[in-house]
Amino acid sequence: MTIQNMAGRIPDSFIQDLLARTDIVEVIGLRVELKRAGKEFKGLSPFSNEKSPSFFVSPAKQMFFDFSSGKNGTVISFLMDYDRLSFVEAVEELAQKAGVEVPREGGGFDQRLVLEGPLDALAAAERFFKEQLKKSEPAKEYLKKRGVNGETAKTFGIGLAPESWDALTRLFPDPRHALDAGLLIEREGREGRPGHSPDKNAYDRFRNRIMFPIRDTRGRVIGFGGRTLANDPAKYLNSPETPLFHKGRNLYGLYEAKQSAKSALPYLIVVEGYMDVVMLAQHGVREAVATLGTATTREHLTLLFKQTSKVVFCFDGDRAGRSAAWRALEQALPEIHGTRECRFLFLPDGHDPDTYVQQIGAEAFRLLVDKAEPLTAFLLAELGKQADLETLEGRAKLAALAKPHLAKLPEGPLRSLLTDELSRITRLKRSEVEALAPVAAEDDPANAQSVPLAGKADPAAKLPRRALRILLEEPHLAAKAEHITQVAQAPLPGAAALVEAIEFFQEHPNYRAAQLEHAWTGTPKGVALSRLAAEPLDIEGDALQTQFLSVLKTLRERAVKAQFDALMQREGLSAAEQQEALALQSEIQAIRFGAG
Ligand code: UTP
Ligand code: MN
Repeated sequence: MTIQNMAGRIPDSFIQDLLARTDIVEVIGLRVELKRAGKEFKGLSPFSNEKSPSFFVSPAKQMFFDFSSGKNGTVISFLMDYDRLSFVEAVEELAQKAGVEVPREGGGFDQRLVLEGPLDALAAAERFFKEQLKKSEPAKEYLKKRGVNGETAKTFGIGLAPESWDALTRLFPDPRHALDAGLLIEREGREGRPGHSPDKNAYDRFRNRIMFPIRDTRGRVIGFGGRTLANDPAKYLNSPETPLFHKGRNLYGLYEAKQSAKSALPYLIVVEGYMDVVMLAQHGVREAVATLGTATTREHLTLLFKQTSKVVFCFDGDRAGRSAAWRALEQALPEIHGTRECRFLFLPDGHDPDTYVQQIGAEAFRLLVDKAEPLTAFLLAELGKQADLETLEGRAKLAALAKPHLAKLPEGPLRSLLTDELSRITRLKRSEVEALAPVAAEDDPANAQSVPLAGKADPAAKLPRRALRILLEEPHLAAKAEHITQVAQAPLPGAAALVEAIEFFQEHPNYRAAQLEHAWTGTPKGVALSRLAAEPLDIEGDALQTQFLSVLKTLRERAVKAQFDALMQREGLSAAEQQEALALQSEIQAIRFGAG
């Protein structure tokens, strides 16, 4: 529908070259005041209100690191966040600056018909529903009764599905895309029967309902929620799951919340209903989003934390509300790191945000949000209800109950403080509380491959990370790496990812860390990479190369040693295998003493 969709895909090689042509310092320098600080540039974070600078831009890595908001990435991700652009818009902006045209591939009619069909049907349906609302006095009366004004209805694109079985169906000469989009329902028993005109095969899914369009983060309508105007037992009806629309991966109101904010969102409030989002926004609390009639998922959390570092869950104070909050907490635990924060706000019984904000007003509502219960307080309060802390047994039980939750929190200050607090409450030694919580799997590039677990005690376990960290600083060192096929086989976490990075920079000698970050975007490796790139490096100059090559040597030695050990595990070696073992042994010697 939009130009970018019709125009087809931007080839990745173009984006990589564009990153190579662009100077991140120049682009960010136009928007944020930067001062040189050693090898990097430093300034006040544009994503928070900090007083002392913790925002860094690295010309060597062509990446930015914001330690106050936890954001980091390439010049593209900076423009997306700072200028509030979509990915494509950010690329177009940089291309324009570099004086090059954005090439498109595919993009012909086929792609439009196959891929863009359902989106077009949804956009057409949104227009249709809005027109229907304009024409219907009873529907307008209903919204008025509920307090929704015209401007709000417009902001959210609220519409009406008329009381009809085929009003929408008749809009589509060929119902295929509307069926795929979940707007229409196929009549049973007639599917695939030849000789039927298509419009007789389908009927409207939404009838006599107020329609709330659900948008993705780019603003495209991907589904609808419809509230009955009659007394249909299904008060709300949502679009079914389609390839475009996944309830667990989208949030109602997120696009509108993003649009309303001039800079980064200070927080996002997660509520349960469409009307909650709409009425909060009308009163000036535009930071609300709703799950789509489902429990909060981990993917929701990822999506939320892409936009803000503070998420406030708002639920009813009743039992259902608290158990929904508990499910949200369980999803949130693994996502809390850096400056990220989660809070819980419980409303008085019988109220939802829709009615409550109308009663107390935006300002009072915001005060409640500010005072919302921190995640750890909610966690301890809920667990405390299940254990009598006056008794030894109760305190032991609390420790046992807390264990799996503590283990889900990534290592960091919050986990450490919660450990302290548990030790205080249970009067167990801190080390005993720690012993309860097994160390959560480290998410470094390593764990993307399945490497046999190197024991925690192995001092070599962090070497691949170390080498990768150095490589991000000095990508040209990749050219000096040898025997990398062997290095990749070192049984240490991250060895394979390290070699992937080395090969990447060998292939593209002029690329920086930013390009690898781009290539790995959206993978667990990518997440780990940007975190790793943000870690300070304690050496410089020649030491970088020396250490890098020495790590590679150790990894190679480990790989050969593992091969040797595997052979030794076997019983009854053949003559050939004995030969091989000897050869491996002398190879180890050679690597160790420099002849390799
Ligand atoms: P509620 O039943 O609390 O309704 O459902 P509400 O939002 O207060 O609705 P109003 O104020 O009577 O209009 C909360 C949310 O749960 C989902 C919807 O997303 C709804 O907004 N829901 C509810 C459904 O998906 N289906 C239903 O039948 C009911
Ligand atoms: Mn309600």
